Amino acid sequence: MSNVIVSDHPLVAHKLTRLRDKDTDPRNFRELVREISVLLAYEATADLALEPREVETPLATAKGFHLKEAVGLVPILRAGLGMVEGFWELMPGAQVWHIGLYRDERTLQPVEYYNKLPVEPTVSVCLILDPMLATGGSAVATADILKRWGVKKIKFVGIIGAPEGIRLMQEHHPDIPIHLAAVDERLNEHGYILPGLGDAGDRQFGTG
Ligand code: PRP
Ligand code: URA
Repeated sequence: MSNVIVSDHPLVAHKLTRLRDKDTDPRNFRELVREISVLLAYEATADLALEPREVETPLATAKGFHLKEAVGLVPILRAGLGMVEGFWELMPGAQVWHIGLYRDERTLQPVEYYNKLPVEPTVSVCLILDPMLATGGSAVATADILKRWGVKKIKFVGIIGAPEGIRLMQEHHPDIPIHLAAVDERLNEHGYILPGLGDAGDRQFGTG
């Protein structure tokens, strides 16, 4: 699991426990997704490249830095949407490129329904955002799309991962680091993560 980075931040563990709770309502669920995303964003961006940049303070010139890479946030609809605000708090200039996928309930295979990427890539780093890495089908399909688009540096940032989904990503995209708040036990017979948190899209949008 060398490319899997599981946060050990106490605030992440505390907030994740509240997120899992079946009694957490959609409003609090959305807020927790946003807050956990801020913390994961801090960790997942620790190796972004910098270039030197001088700045004038009121007193003198200071040597400083500027982000060298153009960052693209790629939320997988719907559930990934809730992670965008947290990332934007740290990187308000990041572009957001939505990818619409849903899992076919019977086959659990991802079905693409929204993709408006332009022909040429407009970013050099993409962070795929999706709270749940279950079978891994949605994450693998999104990484395939981004590689075909021409992006060389990609990371996946999720909240809960199942071993099955991690394995599938590592088989198909061993170059993509996987940042998570937790790795759970397994999938149930319907492809849901155990113990998990239920359906992340339904719980955010109140559609369950
Ligand atoms: C959920 C979740 C992921 C996907 C993960 O989306 O948000 O995108 O399942 O499952 P996988 O790893 O097995 O592909 P869902 O299809 O329920 O759509 P939604 O976000 O619109 O509810
Ligand atoms: N998608 C979810 O929202 N939850 C799961 O447990 C698995 C896939």
